[in-house]
Amino acid sequence: MTDWWRSGVIYQLYPRSFADSDGDGTGDLRGVTARLDHLAGLGVDAIWLNPCFPSPNADWGYDVADYLSVDPELGGDAALDALIAAAGERGIRLLLDLVPNHTSDRHPWFEESRSSRDAPRRDWYVWADGRDGGPPNNWKSVFGGPAWTYDEPTGQWYLHNFLPEQPDLDWWNEDVREAFDGILRHWFDRGVAGFRIDVAHAIVKDAELRDNPPADESDPSRTRRFGQRQVYSMNRPEVHDVFRRWRAIAQEYEPERVLIGETWVFELERLARFYGEGSDELHLAFNVPFLLSPFEPETLAEIVAATEAALPGEAWPVWTLSNHDVIRFPTRWCTDHPARIRCALLLLLTLRGTPVLYYGDELGMPQARLARSDLRDPVGLRHWPLDPGRDGARTPMPWADEPGAGFTEPGVRPWLPIADAHAVNVASQRGDRDSVLSLARDLITLRRELPDLATGAYERLPTHEGTWAWRRGERIMVAVNACDEPRAVGGVRGTIRVATDRSRDGEGVSGELALGPWQAVVIAGP
Ligand code: NOJ
Repeated sequence: MTDWWRSGVIYQLYPRSFADSDGDGTGDLRGVTARLDHLAGLGVDAIWLNPCFPSPNADWGYDVADYLSVDPELGGDAALDALIAAAGERGIRLLLDLVPNHTSDRHPWFEESRSSRDAPRRDWYVWADGRDGGPPNNWKSVFGGPAWTYDEPTGQWYLHNFLPEQPDLDWWNEDVREAFDGILRHWFDRGVAGFRIDVAHAIVKDAELRDNPPADESDPSRTRRFGQRQVYSMNRPEVHDVFRRWRAIAQEYEPERVLIGETWVFELERLARFYGEGSDELHLAFNVPFLLSPFEPETLAEIVAATEAALPGEAWPVWTLSNHDVIRFPTRWCTDHPARIRCALLLLLTLRGTPVLYYGDELGMPQARLARSDLRDPVGLRHWPLDPGRDGARTPMPWADEPGAGFTEPGVRPWLPIADAHAVNVASQRGDRDSVLSLARDLITLRRELPDLATGAYERLPTHEGTWAWRRGERIMVAVNACDEPRAVGGVRGTIRVATDRSRDGEGVSGELALGPWQAVVIAGP
């Protein structure tokens, strides 16, 4: 039987923004449970929840204060158990977000660690003496400024690749590794189907804390932004030992639990390494070059070909267009152009690899534009207006065109503003055959009906500039016209099963297929 995480579709949702069950303006897990029929109707196989552990929310859950319970604001442990059970009844699995790189500075481990140089957990974090009156080395925080903060009472510096409120754990410490073994088992025992692993490429640091070298123009990564290549502050090869260890734990379970890495790397050969040798590390590793590519068929086709070539034997790609850290794809890839949005969704759901939808993607929900006074993300709060931060991708799910948008009660102020729920919402798209939601649902249904669309081999077909076509398995063909002119694709035989222009569904094709500007189709051959 095919592994569910290869053939299935994963749906990422931001718990604070999905559905508010108790009228406090913040989404919660009971809200997710109440909306499961939407996800079952869409046909997804698993939900990945952004972090839902207790947190002071300096970085909205990515600063964890307790890895073994659920934030009471989100409903606590009982709400998670109920969600796992209710999702399970609908055949939907639940994945949590694990944050192993750092904890909150209010986690008891760090409070103990910083209490004195002799504290038993001092070496659970990365502490070092300063150099020439400044930080121990030149590492920079991803969120700006030095990656080190001086701790006056103990006279040393601690490392934080993100906020000072997010001290990095020391993954050279066997006790830290054992603690996380226990955390994995705790949630796996509880019925969690797997984890998305935050900054998976970053958790192990150079043991000697060497300076990062300067970046140069040939640097393929975006680390130029920091003026340095992050080769010592993260991206260490020893991280693979950790994932081999976690894969072995995942394999203790039936069905095997799944590990999905946030592998923020730009070279596909490096990405491939996260799958391990003979599938002994991560099951899936997010593909950042694809996510951040422009919506150009030639560029995308090259990334897909290079990914297919780089991944070892059994390894399986994973594709995503949006997430909580980047601008939503309808705005970033498609300039909010309806036909482009439909093409992008069709290709996401038909490439060889696991598609991950971000909540709202199935509606073509655009990025929200927020005022400075609405911001909650520390990145936007620090860098506005140069960087408005990530809140525009995290606004509440628009369920209906009504006060509160079906997200929260009318009159309640949501934690982030609700974007234009009149323009885009679930209720008005649900029964509309021409809606983005219907397109997404029908494509997911087709993946079940035609298993080759989910798991068949990918083969690119030769086409004219501005178009991209590929075969899946023996008899399925996908064609996308990603330009403003009509285009023809030759050598086609079969029936259009789903088209972005729904009036073409069911059309028979033999020979040449004419595609209007920004049209895409899935064709099943005889
Ligand atoms: C990556 C997460 O996706 C992002 O939201 C977070 O701010 C950083 N890691 C730090 O945990």
